[in-house]
Amino acid sequence: MKKECRKAVIAGNWKMNKTPAEAKALIEEMKPLVADADCEVVLCVPYVDIPAAVEAAAGSNIKIGAENVHFKASGAYTGEVSAEMLKAVGVEYVIIGHSERRQYFGETDQTVNLRTLAALNAGLKTIVCVGETLEQRELGYTEALLKYQTKIALTNVTAEQLKNVVIAYEPVWAIGTGVTATADQADEGNGFVRAAVAEAYGADAAEAVTVQYGGSMNAKNADELVSKINVDGGLIGGASLKAADFSVIVKAASK
Ligand code: 13P
Repeated sequence: MKKECRKAVIAGNWKMNKTPAEAKALIEEMKPLVADADCEVVLCVPYVDIPAAVEAAAGSNIKIGAENVHFKASGAYTGEVSAEMLKAVGVEYVIIGHSERRQYFGETDQTVNLRTLAALNAGLKTIVCVGETLEQRELGYTEALLKYQTKIALTNVTAEQLKNVVIAYEPVWAIGTGVTATADQADEGNGFVRAAVAEAYGADAAEAVTVQYGGSMNAKNADELVSKINVDGGLIGGASLKAADFSVIVKAASK
């Protein structure tokens, strides 16, 4: 399978931004701008925004995602939300293992794996995030780390379930910093992720899996990044909060 045959996915990660009313307004603004997209368009929003976002996106090509999910089905886990709950309110995608969750909320490679399994078993599509810190890059561990994170995240995920997995390569040093990886660095990192999938599932599965780049992707640099052979779209933070910028990125991935 060639890059042209893989479905590019442009996903916004709103992080901790927007009230339900603001979410509705932003989606209404985005809908006409992305209506003719030739890629998958996803907006991952805060939990409380989900009902408003699902309602606003209904009938459009925008899919709604969550930004995290717990790995248990139910029980005494104060403050957490299960995959079944997300399914029940119309969520189709969920981000798992974002570096901000790893950095601030004790997320580990093992819990990333558990969350991935819970989401897939509930019928959600996952956007699993991997990425190295600047220190790890400078020490020369990028390839080993990306392969390790990818393989642990996918432990016990079946080849059939892999079809519902998107992996996002997000170098930690490029997130929210305005420092974008060069297109070649993004391509190389995504290639390491794809190689890890090949080692675990074989070459055909690796060619078919969607691997996004994330980290200061914006309306100006998206074209060059998504033109790379291993870059199948992007996971967009700041620029996904602006309808015009986000739609330019969607258009870049639709070429
Ligand atoms: P920025 O696009 O704001 O750098 O955020 C990237 C990101 O973390 C997406 O998940």
